[in-house]
Amino acid sequence: MSMKILVTGGAGYIGSHTCLQLLRAGHDVVVVDNLVNAQEEAMRRVQTLAGREFAFYPFDVCDDNMLDKVFSEHSFDGVIHFAGLKAVGESVSIPLRYYSNNLVSTMTLCRVMDRHNVKRLIFSSSATVYQPGSPMPVNEEAALGCTNPYGWTKFMGEQILRDIAAADPEWSIVLLRYFNPIGADASGMIGEDPSGIPNNLMPYITQTALGRLAQLSVFGDDYDTPDGTGVRDYIHVVDLAQGHMDALNYAARNTGSVAINLGTGVGYSVLDIVHAFEKVNGVKVPYQIAPRRPGDVAAVYADPRRAKELLGWQAEKGLEDMCRDSWRWQSMNPKGYAAE
Ligand code: NAD
Ligand code: WQD
Repeated sequence: MSMKILVTGGAGYIGSHTCLQLLRAGHDVVVVDNLVNAQEEAMRRVQTLAGREFAFYPFDVCDDNMLDKVFSEHSFDGVIHFAGLKAVGESVSIPLRYYSNNLVSTMTLCRVMDRHNVKRLIFSSSATVYQPGSPMPVNEEAALGCTNPYGWTKFMGEQILRDIAAADPEWSIVLLRYFNPIGADASGMIGEDPSGIPNNLMPYITQTALGRLAQLSVFGDDYDTPDGTGVRDYIHVVDLAQGHMDALNYAARNTGSVAINLGTGVGYSVLDIVHAFEKVNGVKVPYQIAPRRPGDVAAVYADPRRAKELLGWQAEKGLEDMCRDSWRWQSMNPKGYAAE
């Protein structure tokens, strides 16, 4: 059955891929994104790829009046809430901006949803809510706790949403805890476009392979992991997008709130990623070993069984797909969405 979905933060990296997947599956989307970390060009490309137009509203989700108007104009079957600030280091320097943006947007959205009797919500949470030092693979029952303001905004966002679902049995809320999303749509037309020097591994690698950055610093080679470098659960953004569609279907059949990991269950080290990237794409990624990055842990990877059980979802794409698709996007768009 075709659904009409409000996607907040839909112009961003994961949001744009999810919009495309929803449109390709025959659903309708409406996007609200204030473009604080995205380009409108991403929305144009999604429309081109899908061969279909949709409404795009460039405003802040914290704006109750504007959001209310959008809910008056459209009748939504559900909401996916991607909008948020996500840079861990920046959240340490400007915590108030992170708490205000990420929490006020979530609370405003819920208030407006409640007013319009739309009570189905998929929330972008993160593996970062798990207490550092949790045994791996980590499942959804593990203890929660964070080390930076960004992480706490997700921790608190989850708690607010659990309380809303507990107070009103008509709500259906899925808290999706993503591991490390990489990759891009196979068209190479949309992808991750960080502003400035990337913080995350894959965009750093693709920009190094381009020659835009001189070399990758591998943060630590003395961790207790097979090759000493940090291990993470990298997940293809297209698999992640599919997880959101499956979560919407789950939310249509169930009420209450539930947290679900979206990861592959497989951990790769930094050097695994570098070597796979070089091999699959036939390009060099110069690197040097550097000191550990403060706040990093040795290994993080998911127990993905609940997603399989409840959503019927599991990751389909492997490391080679992720490396190939990330590079296709970057090499076709050396400056991201910016015009040449
Ligand atoms: P992104 O920055 O590309 O997308 C977020 C989008 O939200 C951006 O387009 C930005 O302009 C928009 N936005 C931010 N605040 C807004 C506001 N107040 N009103 C309207 N729009 C606003 O990030 P992403 O990687 O696509 O992540 C999407 C969501 O998933 C975020 O909530 C992020 O915290 C979460 N998440 C991301 C990762 C990751 O590694 N990429 C991992 C776990 C969780
Ligand atoms: C991956 C691995 C680094 C850059 C972050 C957030 C997390 C979530 C996903 C939102 C680590 C190593 C990295 C580099 C390197 N986001 N690395 N050189 O830290 O696992 O997770 O993004 O919710 O909350 O913390 O991802 O891509 O930064 O790092 O060696 O230049 O690559 O040490 O082992 P991370 P990442």
